[in-house]
Amino acid sequence: MRTAGRITRRGGYVRPFVEADIPQVAELHRRVFQTGEAPSAELERRYRAYFRGIFLDNPWYDEEVSPLVYEDADGSIAGFLGVMPRRMSIRGRPIQAAVSSQFIVEPGRRSTMAAVHLMKTFMSGPQDVSIADEANGLSRKLWESLGGATALLHSIHWARLLRPAQFGLLRMGRGTRLGTASVLRPVCRLVDGVAAHLPRSPFRHSVTSSSEDLDVETLLACLSESSGRPALRPEYDARSLRWLLGFLVPARGEGSLHKALVRDAAGQVLGWYLYYAGPAGLGEAVHIGARHESMKAVLEHLFQDAWRRDVVALSGRLEPRFTAGFAQTYCLFHPRLCWMLVHSRDAEVLQAIHSGDAMLTRLEGEWCMRFQMESR
Ligand SMILES: CC(C)(COP(=O)(O)OP(=O)(O)OC[C@H]1O[C@@H](n2cnc3c(N)ncnc32)[C@H](O)[C@@H]1OP(=O)(O)O)[C@@H](O)C(=O)NCCC(=O)NCCS
Repeated sequence: MRTAGRITRRGGYVRPFVEADIPQVAELHRRVFQTGEAPSAELERRYRAYFRGIFLDNPWYDEEVSPLVYEDADGSIAGFLGVMPRRMSIRGRPIQAAVSSQFIVEPGRRSTMAAVHLMKTFMSGPQDVSIADEANGLSRKLWESLGGATALLHSIHWARLLRPAQFGLLRMGRGTRLGTASVLRPVCRLVDGVAAHLPRSPFRHSVTSSSEDLDVETLLACLSESSGRPALRPEYDARSLRWLLGFLVPARGEGSLHKALVRDAAGQVLGWYLYYAGPAGLGEAVHIGARHESMKAVLEHLFQDAWRRDVVALSGRLEPRFTAGFAQTYCLFHPRLCWMLVHSRDAEVLQAIHSGDAMLTRLEGEWCMRFQMESR
C-alpha cells in the first residue's frame, strides 16, 4: 500500500484517503463547492455513496494509485485530491493512467504547501501518466510549477448551434423579462424553423445514415477495434465499461443521456456517440468515435438527433485528430478555460497527447467523477 508522505515543517503530511475520512472530506467539499448550506443527513448519504463509489470502489482501484488527503498535525484533514486509475495503451503497450479530480484545500490553509504536497505526491506515483481534464487556472498554475504541462489542443471545446434564434434568446434570457421572452419565443421558433428548411442552410439536417442503440458490448467492440487508431487510447473491458456507463446514466443534472451506433445505407458502422440533451436545451457530448473518413457523417447524425430532441446548441471537448470533421459541420471552437493537464516521464505518451494523437474523451476523464447534487 502507498505509504504516508514526508512530514512537512508544519507537521502535516499526505496519506492515502480511506473510508473513515469520508465525513471530513465531504464537509470540506460541501463548504468549498457550496453543495449545501448546512450539513444534512441526505447530503451525507450522497457524499458517502459518491466518495466510496467513485474513489474506493471503482473497477480500477489500486492502493498504489489512491486518492490522497493532507492531514494536519492535529489530525484534521486540510486537503483532498481525488484519484482514479485508468488503463490505457500507447502504440499497443499497456500503461497505467491516473486521473485526478476534486482538488480541495481548506480555505484557511491555502497558500501553504498543502496543495503542493498533495500534487507532488500524486505526480510521483507509479502511474505512467497523470491527467486532469477539467482543471481551473489555479490548478493549472500549480500543475505547471511542478513539471506538468497543459495539453492545449485537448483543452479546446467545440460548439454547434442547432436552433440559432432560440440560442440567442437563451443567452439573453437572464437579462430579459419573462414576458418579453415568452413573446419572443414563438418568433424564434419560427425563424429556426425557416432556417432548418432553407436549401444549403447550415441549420438544415438531412442525413441518410441510420442508428441503433449503443449497448455496452457494442461500444466495447467499437473501442477495441479502435476509432482512427490513435497512438494513446483507453483500454476497457466489459466490467469497467458497464460501471462507467452505469454511472453516467443517472446523472440527471445534465438531462437525458442518448447513445447511438451509426450505420451507413449499406449497414456498415460509421461511428457512435454519447451525449446529454440538457433540460434548458443545451447539450453536452461525452464521447464520439468514428473512423477519420466517417467523422463528418457521424457528427451530422448526432446534430440531427440532438435537433430532433429540441437541443438548441450542443458542445463538447475537441479531439484534435477530428478537427476537420468538426470544422466541416459548422462547429465553432472556443476555449472554456477548463484545461487538460498532463504529467508523464514517458516522452512517447507526452508526444501523443501534445500532437493530438490520443483518444482522451470525457469518458476517460473527470466528467464521470463529478459529484451529482441530484438523487441517484
Ligand atoms: C486549487 C486549490 C486546491 C489550490 O490550493 P492553494 O493552497 O490555493 O494553492 P496555491 O496555488 O496557493 O499554491 C500554494 C503555494 O505554493 C506555492 N507553490 C506553487 N508551486 C510551488 C513549487 N513548485 N514549489 C514551492 N512552492 C510552490 C505557491 O506559490 C503558493 O504560495 P503563494 O500563494 O504564496 O504564491 C485551492 O485553491 C482550492 O481548494 N480551491 C477551491 C477548489 C478548486 O478550485 N479546486 C480546483 C478544481 S480544478
